[in-house]
Amino acid sequence: MTDYWNLNVAHHARILRAMPPNCRSALDIGCGDGLLAQKLAARAKWVVALDTSPEMAEQARRRTAGLDVEVVEADFLAAVRDGVLPRRSFSFVTSVAALHHMDPEAALQTMASLLEPGGRLAVAGLAMSRSALDWLIAAAQMPLVQTIRLAHGGASGPDGMPVSFDAIPSWTQARTTALEALPGARWRRTLQLRYLIEWTAPPAPRLVTAHTLRSTMDHPPLP
Ligand SMILES: C[S@@+](CC[C@H](N)C(=O)[O-])C[C@H]1O[C@@H](n2cnc3c(N)ncnc32)[C@H](O)[C@@H]1O
Repeated sequence: MTDYWNLNVAHHARILRAMPPNCRSALDIGCGDGLLAQKLAARAKWVVALDTSPEMAEQARRRTAGLDVEVVEADFLAAVRDGVLPRRSFSFVTSVAALHHMDPEAALQTMASLLEPGGRLAVAGLAMSRSALDWLIAAAQMPLVQTIRLAHGGASGPDGMPVSFDAIPSWTQARTTALEALPGARWRRTLQLRYLIEWTAPPAPRLVTAHTLRSTMDHPPLP
């Protein structure tokens, strides 16, 4: 299957940079035809690519045949609820241009719950300009976006990709939802009309062993 370029694919390099070193397992939610999953497989030992569309899941299976990629055809929140995707088990969770297809707050919190301690989340999402400032920023970015588009010979994508523009939030809504769902997350607009959320799960709590407990107790009490 051939590669192609569009504003979602333009975010793959950022997504790959957000992966933790020695990534054991990665999950791509709303994987489409599996182009990102194919790239993740070069850096993670095991990849799960999930999409609710039978046609996209089939294209993802064909694209990733022979790689350590398991393609799951399912609705994301239902898959977690049904135990298909175990919690606290992924080193890296990502999603590109799919968050607005779901309840975004529930989806982000559920994505976070799938991370192992210290695991990382990177989500690229779509937002719409609804204020004068948003329109100004979008207009200022347009020459750059067009230049990048031309440099790649124009944008294209796989046939049959489900798209939906009904529930795309404003930039302010997108940021508020992300920061409420994931306190401490990093949220930023990218130069290509998307935003990026990055979040790291807290590390595992340090185990108190009998030895560390005794050495604490041996200390004289603080004044
Ligand atoms: C705009 S496409 C983006 C696909 C791909 N991530 C990309 O960047 O090209 C959104 C994808 O999310 C999938 N999707 C929509 N709702 C979903 C859900 N509830 N669970 C899993 N996937 C979903 C769609 O089938 C579609 O393939």
